[in-house]
Amino acid sequence: MEEHLTVGRVAELAGVTVRTLHHYDEIGLLRPSARTVGGYRAYAAGDVERLREVLAYRRLGFGLREIADLVDDPDTDAVAHLCRLRGLLVEQRDRSAAMVTAIDRELEARAMGIPTTPEEQLRVFGPRLYDAIGSAYPATRRTEPRIAARIHQALGDARTVLNVGAGTGSYEPLDREVTAVEPSAVMRAQRPAGAAPCVAAAAESLPFEDQSFDAAMAVSTVHHWPDPVAGLREMCRVARRVVVFTYDADDTGWRRRFWLTRDYLPEFAQLLVGWPSLADLTRAIGGRAQPVLVPWDCADGFFEAHWRRPEAYLDERVRRAVSVWTRVGPDAERRAVTRLGDDLASGRWAERNRDLVALDAAELGLRLLISGT
Ligand SMILES: C[S@@+](CC[C@H](N)C(=O)[O-])C[C@H]1O[C@@H](n2cnc3c(N)ncnc32)[C@H](O)[C@@H]1O
Repeated sequence: MEEHLTVGRVAELAGVTVRTLHHYDEIGLLRPSARTVGGYRAYAAGDVERLREVLAYRRLGFGLREIADLVDDPDTDAVAHLCRLRGLLVEQRDRSAAMVTAIDRELEARAMGIPTTPEEQLRVFGPRLYDAIGSAYPATRRTEPRIAARIHQALGDARTVLNVGAGTGSYEPLDREVTAVEPSAVMRAQRPAGAAPCVAAAAESLPFEDQSFDAAMAVSTVHHWPDPVAGLREMCRVARRVVVFTYDADDTGWRRRFWLTRDYLPEFAQLLVGWPSLADLTRAIGGRAQPVLVPWDCADGFFEAHWRRPEAYLDERVRRAVSVWTRVGPDAERRAVTRLGDDLASGRWAERNRDLVALDAAELGLRLLISGT
């Protein structure tokens, strides 16, 4: 016979009151599947699973009615709920990290007597990480022509292209009909005049008909999506070919090779915990992955870009345009920058990394995923 937990035990384990569980029962949100002989509510494993989903959505700020719709959705099983919850929680954690960084900067500015504008004060409450940090993006982030050439070649003869997580428009081919999708208002606002039209939407729910584009591309964005596999499946739904520029989160080799994460920012590994494997991502688009080397003078200032130009990481503008530095939090950032600065000054960095000077390009885990190949 299936084991059941009493209402008191469930309340104790979940840190809620028995009254709350009674209320969930009364409104039909969580009906325990059995009663004890004495008539008390008794919860089976399936009831507990549903309670965990209810409580997690509650903690994320959803209302009880919205939660009822979410947990009753017949198309969403327990694993899909866990994936979605994980994505939402990571987004919330990133937003908290962005707020800590913004508060620290405001404290510093106040200490120096510099006033902050109302826009700066409110930006951090914006709905997404890139609404908080996106204004620093264009300073160092732009198309790297050698990587663009690989992406454009992978798009094949596609005439219509959807660019998902398009940001400010880097890597958009100029010789095709491009439509961009970007959820952050701050990023959309920074697209240059004449850039492709941009729709406010997220990858996981693309507002387009099935197979309405020849190709869809996503560059340096998949690791920000709350549900990457769902987003990639959406891209496959709306386009005949999918091209994704991302990195291999499982390959610990490149993290050991990259001195920045190995010697100064070990906290980076935390950001990858639970991230879908490269195999999951390629499977989602039914394709394969090709390595992309990072040239020593890479024009796009992404996290790994300055592997042969270490002084760049001491520059606040370089760091603010890369979300990793906000996501690891201000303590880890400060520690890494101080230690790197000391090692550059003492010659220790040069001593340890002398082999790099001879390299023109480095394999640091970046990958191009192409569907149907
Ligand atoms: C590092 S930027 C890359 C922008 C651009 N593709 C580039 O290469 O410069 C990541 C972008 O992903 C966007 N993003 C975050 N979550 C998203 C989601 N769920 N769907 C689509 N884009 C998302 C962010 O707002 C941000 O503009």
